[in-house]
Amino acid sequence: MVVIRNLTKTYGRYRALNNLNLHIEKGDIFGFVGPNGAGKTTTMRIICGLLQADWGEVYVDGIDALNNNDLIKRKVGYVPDFFGVYDNFKVMEYMEFYGSMYGMEGETVRKTSLGLLDLVNLSDKQDAYVDGLSRGMKQRLCVARALIHNPQLLILDEPASGLDPRARFELKEVMKNLGSMGKTIIISSHILPELGEMCNSIGVMEKGNLVASGKVEEITKRSRHSNPLTIRVSENKDLAIQILRQTPLVEKISIRDDAIIIAFSGDDAEMAQLLTNLIMNGVKVSNFHREEGNLETLFLEITGGAKNGK
Ligand SMILES: Nc1ncnc2c1ncn2[C@@H]1O[C@H](COP(=O)(O)OP(=O)(O)O)[C@@H](O)[C@H]1O
Ligand SMILES: [Mg+2]
Repeated sequence: MVVIRNLTKTYGRYRALNNLNLHIEKGDIFGFVGPNGAGKTTTMRIICGLLQADWGEVYVDGIDALNNNDLIKRKVGYVPDFFGVYDNFKVMEYMEFYGSMYGMEGETVRKTSLGLLDLVNLSDKQDAYVDGLSRGMKQRLCVARALIHNPQLLILDEPASGLDPRARFELKEVMKNLGSMGKTIIISSHILPELGEMCNSIGVMEKGNLVASGKVEEITKRSRHSNPLTIRVSENKDLAIQILRQTPLVEKISIRDDAIIIAFSGDDAEMAQLLTNLIMNGVKVSNFHREEGNLETLFLEITGGAKNGK
């Protein structure tokens, strides 16, 4: 859906994007992660046609985005990282105002707006003043507004920043709904855990370059295999430890309270084999599990790895 090749952008002498390459598949909810100043906003604004690049290529659904501004604006919805002031605008008027920018009017814009307000859980707020809404509601209204022309690609710049946990949860629900509608979504954040449960793929950006990217599922699976395995037994603990010592893939054994914790480098099948072994030898196993992988450990691994690799 989005292909970026060798994208470069300088502000004066400062190079904000340095030959950036990026691929986002159709239907992905792509988390764009990186510290402040990494170049996320710059990239997003270029994709939307709001900012000119120095050189490089950007394609959105096959369209050359750097040379087809009008077409791209119809394909992309953008939620910036700030929310303006809208004196005396009511929610429905706000939606109608944005609809009119895409040539929508009358019943069409009203009906579309009602559907979108429902989608972002603001149906009961259509007569409320925009400036009186909570931060979380404003954020969701902004999402509804960005969808008014039914774009295929939605770009959200730091949407979760400054939201309380409840508002963040509600935003997450909206993202899930949009994902199931088949939209492609790019969400940026400088805080990885904010994105973890929202995205199915992520890209990590540092200093104007992508240092890692991939499907969240594959990444967490990969990091899961390095997590420790916890085993609890109700009887024959000594025997269990003896068996573990003789198992080649067990690299380290430690005891914490009533649990045996091991470093085990095997895959899922080898884990099942180990469990069978313990049971067949008469160990009464009451608990046997590996911690799930998480994006945070991975983030540290890849950003650390990228630095070491350079
Ligand atoms: N209009 C601008 N003029 C000069 N420098 C800018 C401008 N916009 C962004 N930058 C610089 O470009 C770099 C990337 O910024 P940005 O894309 O906003 O990063 P991010 O969104 O990842 O925090 C930063 O170092 C920032 O200071
Ligand atoms: Mg930014």
